[in-house]
Amino acid sequence: MEIRKVGVVGCGLMGSGIAQVAAMAGFPTVVREVSQEVLDKGLASIRKSLDKLVEKNVLSSSQAAEAFARLQPTLQLDGFADCDLVIEAIIENLERKRELFAALDQIVKPEAIFASNTSSLSITEMMTATRRRPRFLGLHFFNPVPLMKLVEVVKTVVTDPAVIETGLAYARKVGKTPILTSDRGGFIVNRLLVPYLLDSIRAVEEGVGSIEDIDTGMKLGCGHPMGPLTLNDFVGLDTTYYIAEILFSEFREKRFAPPPLMKRMVMAGMLGRKSGLGFYDYTDPKNPKPNTMLEKK
Ligand SMILES: NC(=O)c1ccc[n+]([C@@H]2O[C@H](COP(=O)([O-])OP(=O)(O)OC[C@H]3O[C@@H](n4cnc5c(N)ncnc54)[C@H](O)[C@@H]3O)[C@@H](O)[C@H]2O)c1
Repeated sequence: MEIRKVGVVGCGLMGSGIAQVAAMAGFPTVVREVSQEVLDKGLASIRKSLDKLVEKNVLSSSQAAEAFARLQPTLQLDGFADCDLVIEAIIENLERKRELFAALDQIVKPEAIFASNTSSLSITEMMTATRRRPRFLGLHFFNPVPLMKLVEVVKTVVTDPAVIETGLAYARKVGKTPILTSDRGGFIVNRLLVPYLLDSIRAVEEGVGSIEDIDTGMKLGCGHPMGPLTLNDFVGLDTTYYIAEILFSEFREKRFAPPPLMKRMVMAGMLGRKSGLGFYDYTDPKNPKPNTMLEKK
């Protein structure tokens, strides 16, 4: 199936990036938010990101202007009626997502494909809110969308193989490398990443090494661009905690269980970079200092 027009629901952190890469790839792109204020904020962040790509000579200024002009901002759902692909990127809440898909199912032409950008919820559970079950899949982009190359294409037990092919082709069309995965908690990336992040916290908790040594070990020993505790702070401990709880309830395996230290840190508001304190202290953001109070002496 050929995708000619794209719809993106939500213009927050992820939705704005997803709409931007669609527009840059030449698709007329309808993008919807809940209020004019949030929509304007999302559009401003797209404009800023396009400007940066012009500065870096990735796009010419006319290409950036053309991409921006392909965006069709709206507060309504009606604009999605003739889209071939609608990608949902609203808040991570199953009930809100199911309500949205049920409403879209009434409005959008029946042959169109629906996709969710969820990180942790079940595609199958969202799909059952619609009557287009074979035409439903996950398209999981990574943050920041204009820069990150990966898309996880998520199939359910009933996704039509032609729809999977269309999803893979769409990801390539917007300049990404797709990988195919099944609708299981965490897909591929978070299923492998989350236990690693949790284990690094267990290593602090058990006194295996200092915060700095654990990070240095994985950087220099494994060639990772950043250590796991720095990465925990970067992603936000609350976000990883939330995903870990979902993975733990899916698989009931200890490796997905958030360690007690992580829970205490989240309860205390030590969320990492965004709260100014996590495994590192960001009082001087350019020169974070290890939070040695957390280390087992
Ligand atoms: N943040 C990440 O790193 C990341 C990475 C991959 C996937 N995701 C997933 O992407 C989705 C969005 O996450 P985000 O980080 O962009 O969140 P966000 O809070 O930045 O954006 C969500 C936006 O959706 C809007 N919204 C809520 N209900 C809506 C509706 N009915 N119609 C239109 N807009 C609506 C909100 O106003 C908000 O602006 C979530 O499912 C999340 O799990 C996030």
